[in-house]
Amino acid sequence: MKKIGLMGCGAVAGYGHIPAILKTPGLALHAVYDPNTAALEACRERFGIEGTFSDPELFFESGIEAVSITSPAPVHRENVLGAAAHGLPVLCEKPLAMNRAEAEEMIAAMAGADAALYAGFCYRFSPSALKILELVGEGAIGSVKSLRLIYNWNCHGKYTTDAGGNRVIQERREGRMLEGGPLCDCGTHQIDLALFWTGSKVTRYCGAGAWVDDYAAPDHVWLHMDHADGAHTMIETSFSYHHTSRNQRSEFVYELIGTGGVIRYDREARELSLENAAGRQEFPFHPEKSFEGMYAEWERALATGTSELLTSPEDAVRVVEIARGATDEAIAAVALR
Ligand SMILES: NC(=O)c1ccc[n+]([C@@H]2O[C@H](COP(=O)([O-])OP(=O)(O)OC[C@H]3O[C@@H](n4cnc5c(N)ncnc54)[C@H](O)[C@@H]3O)[C@@H](O)[C@H]2O)c1
Repeated sequence: MKKIGLMGCGAVAGYGHIPAILKTPGLALHAVYDPNTAALEACRERFGIEGTFSDPELFFESGIEAVSITSPAPVHRENVLGAAAHGLPVLCEKPLAMNRAEAEEMIAAMAGADAALYAGFCYRFSPSALKILELVGEGAIGSVKSLRLIYNWNCHGKYTTDAGGNRVIQERREGRMLEGGPLCDCGTHQIDLALFWTGSKVTRYCGAGAWVDDYAAPDHVWLHMDHADGAHTMIETSFSYHHTSRNQRSEFVYELIGTGGVIRYDREARELSLENAAGRQEFPFHPEKSFEGMYAEWERALATGTSELLTSPEDAVRVVEIARGATDEAIAAVALR
């Protein structure tokens, strides 16, 4: 049983990471750290965790053997450097860092401590994403030439209602726009999936944006990437799709177009299908995230010292660089108008 320490007891820890750790047979949630004592108390009450720490040193010295980082992106660097100083392996939520310089410092610190660092991209572990990897690997659509990865949603909406019944700005969406917007946040999953499914490096990329709302970063972004093997990926992602509509609507589609057919995943239609010369095949649908699959793989990686499926720190840096670079390119292009 590996004793896991988790840093950052917020939303994604509560609905994804902690339940998944508790369900993974070879992992035990030994300690949690958060500078916010109210978040710690809520975590203790909800999950019955006794090892709660608001002092990082006491957390690192509590007997933990590996660290899961689920704090906001701007503090990933500080958390990873803390784990490295204690020689502890890390699984860090996406995005690994805010930029390449930060990520390189984190990777060097972990390498210096001889401790494994992986970025936690839970979309890879959806059984649907793994089925797509299998279909691509067995040549079901021939050679993959074009990927269309679309995730347009409202990021919980522009407004919410406060305790007094007043319409107020939704802070979660606001925070994510200030951290760089949809490509730097959710869109990093799509960039990661393109690397995962093609197995081919990105040789060139460019970004373009639209400003539906008024932030420094674009809230609706397009990214084009050329891969070394000749494939092309187009990602479209938005935090302002129906952001002021009464009803929530989203689009979430993966299409992989090859020389011999098309694989299509459509979350709203609950569809995973393959169309090729043999006709149409449908496969069981699964939601796009799997924290349980990710932790099962991390457990294997902690035991064996290697993983073919978790995102390497080198790929995670490239994801950060592309997401930030394309967003900055979109901003610079508008400044020239
Ligand atoms: N994989 C996914 O599908 C998914 C979904 C949502 C968020 N995320 C990622 O997860 C991370 C957290 O997002 P969230 O929505 O849970 O945020 P959140 O704001 O709900 O929670 C973050 C928690 O971290 C704590 N924190 C603040 N500073 C800290 C520090 N220095 N060290 C440790 N903890 C600290 C906060 O007090 C808070 O409790 C982000 O990187 C985000 O991009 C991933």
